[in-house]
Amino acid sequence: MNPVYEKLLRCFHCVIEQISFVPKVALVLGSGLGDYADRIQVEAVLPYDKIEGFPVSTVSGHKGRFVFGYVNQVPVVIMQGRVHYYEGYEMTDVVLPIRLMKMLGAEILFLTNAAGGVNLGFQAGDFMMITDQISSFVPSPLIGQNIEALGPRFCDMSNIYDESLQEILRASAREAGITLREGVYIQFTGPAYESPQEVRMSRILGADAVGMSTACEAVAANHMGMKICGISCITNMACGILKQPLSHQEVKEAADQAAPKFEQLITAAITRMGKEDGILRSPEEDENEK
Ligand code: HPA
Repeated sequence: MNPVYEKLLRCFHCVIEQISFVPKVALVLGSGLGDYADRIQVEAVLPYDKIEGFPVSTVSGHKGRFVFGYVNQVPVVIMQGRVHYYEGYEMTDVVLPIRLMKMLGAEILFLTNAAGGVNLGFQAGDFMMITDQISSFVPSPLIGQNIEALGPRFCDMSNIYDESLQEILRASAREAGITLREGVYIQFTGPAYESPQEVRMSRILGADAVGMSTACEAVAANHMGMKICGISCITNMACGILKQPLSHQEVKEAADQAAPKFEQLITAAITRMGKEDGILRSPEEDENEK
């Protein structure tokens, strides 16, 4: 069997031996948002190191665990700490948690991250809903023998970020009185921040925000047919725009500062996903599929 799939199945079986919770929404928490997982109605917690073969994040300040529970009655699984390509993992390992959450039942993937503002109309502290992405500068997680059980060899990428979820995010932001910008996210490998010319290049290519995660996760999730939405917290203007050096400390502080509003937006959006007809399958539909 394909070793990537074999590892995924091993992780899947390891999780379902320990956890019986079935999530509908998978939420990936970006920098600064880690505490959100402690504020939901927690049903179960599974540290990544309790999953055989699972990639464990090495970035300081990132807790590594799945939190299962409810956000206003919507069953969710939250990744408290994600895995980054710059940590040295294979891209297939970076997206393993995403694939795993789909296998556990999640139909929707809600991606969040901290990102640098490339669009000159943005400022630090803004939120940007991701409408499309550029992942061409990082290896595709789909390279290698295709795992037919997950999705097709050549997968369509016309609508990576689901239109109806985008509408939900817009409505949730409006309702919460939060300004939600929109734009294209570009992923680079990191871990160094971009050079000013790389930021200019990104702008020419049509990007509005730049980061080191997310796009590869969306590729893997799209391959599996998940509905995807994403929000970037613009923690800083990308390198070269403000003529001041960029530091991880600055990014972390800005992310922490934006967190309360970000959490409010996430809760509003997930709650709305639970109420909107046709976004999530009903328990009856789940039953019929068995
Ligand atoms: N570049 C890349 N990743 C980031 C940035 C940035 O400017 N800010 C937060 N994450």
